[in-house]
Amino acid sequence: MKQFPTSQILNNLPKQFFASLVKKVGKYIEAGYDVINLGQGNPDQATPNHIVKKMQEASANPANHRYSPFQGHRYLKQAAADFYKREYDVTIDADKEVAILFGGKAGLVEIPQCLLDPGDTMLVPDPGYPDYLSGVALAKAEMVMMPLREANNFLPDYNELSSEAIERAKLMFLNYPNNPTGAAATKEFFEETVKLASLNDICVVHDFAYGAIGFDGVKPLSFLQIDGAKEVGIEIYTLSKTYNMAGWRVGFAVGNSSVISAIELLQDHLYCSIFGGIQEAAREALTGSQDCVRELNHLYERRRNVLIDGLRSLGWNVTAPKGSFFAWLKVPDGLTSTEFADLLLEQAHIAVAPGIAFGELGEGYVRVGLLTSEERLGEAVRRISELEIFKK
Ligand SMILES: Cc1ncc(COP(=O)(O)O)c(C=O)c1O
Repeated sequence: MKQFPTSQILNNLPKQFFASLVKKVGKYIEAGYDVINLGQGNPDQATPNHIVKKMQEASANPANHRYSPFQGHRYLKQAAADFYKREYDVTIDADKEVAILFGGKAGLVEIPQCLLDPGDTMLVPDPGYPDYLSGVALAKAEMVMMPLREANNFLPDYNELSSEAIERAKLMFLNYPNNPTGAAATKEFFEETVKLASLNDICVVHDFAYGAIGFDGVKPLSFLQIDGAKEVGIEIYTLSKTYNMAGWRVGFAVGNSSVISAIELLQDHLYCSIFGGIQEAAREALTGSQDCVRELNHLYERRRNVLIDGLRSLGWNVTAPKGSFFAWLKVPDGLTSTEFADLLLEQAHIAVAPGIAFGELGEGYVRVGLLTSEERLGEAVRRISELEIFKK
């Protein structure tokens, strides 16, 4: 078979780390081990019934069998605006300040191509969600990493960045509640961000993928709740986590109208919008009963408590996440994150993601997903205790 060479752009894409993790874990499963897989970020619960039902009805409607409007249905944009008003008391113009996305990831990968020319600079968190790097590579942009350190509650300290990098930067990605660290943003931090962005003409993209998951009674802040935020940026919201709709591929961007119209222009050239049945179901999710969201939040909080209390009882000094469905755990002295993840897989048949997969500053940590039952998380704690790694 003739092998066609791939383009420079494809050759420069970052390696998909999770493909190799899936392979490694798969080997243990195939060999018959009962692996507790806490390595990935795929919600394990079903989409709530009322949303599925709406999709079933809507899929039978011939109006939905035609092309959807290029930029998505107006009713879904209005539902997104109503959602922001209800949840965050943020006023959004449904016509100018909402773009429908095929999931958050699509928007995050598209935005650098919308706003940057090759060689332009963008600020990206380290550690961070690996797919941010895909968008940067496709836009041939330059990255400056913003260190997220435990000492600063995994918020970037802008004083650590060179003034030259800040002046050059045209775009910044942030994400709170944070993947992978489970950290939450503060109002003061977002205010500082708006100030910095405004002074330096930086567009801020806040990835709010885990906006619905905040613990200890604290609701995560939307970036758009901060005065002036809409002047300097947008927020990316996805239905994947809030409503267990990861497979449906639906989300939206809200905020600065110039960025929203840039996203819509690129999308006009890439796709026709999402299937109408999914858009109707998404409207139902955003505007229907939110009991399912409250229940999901409690479920993740109970799981977090089983894991964190259990690990602490072994003498492992771990920090409890404030939000998201991940725990970010310090590895024992003397081991790299990969060595420790391998040890857990080989000796306890527990899969976790080594921190190095999320950036250089992820070294020294592993990420554990709260995406299995309390019983299985308890079993994971029991297996770790048998390794006798931690001393009380
Ligand atoms: C931080 C973060 N952003 C964005 C996404 C993308 O979610 P989706 O494309 O399903 O909306 C994820 C998914 O895991 C994520 O963890």
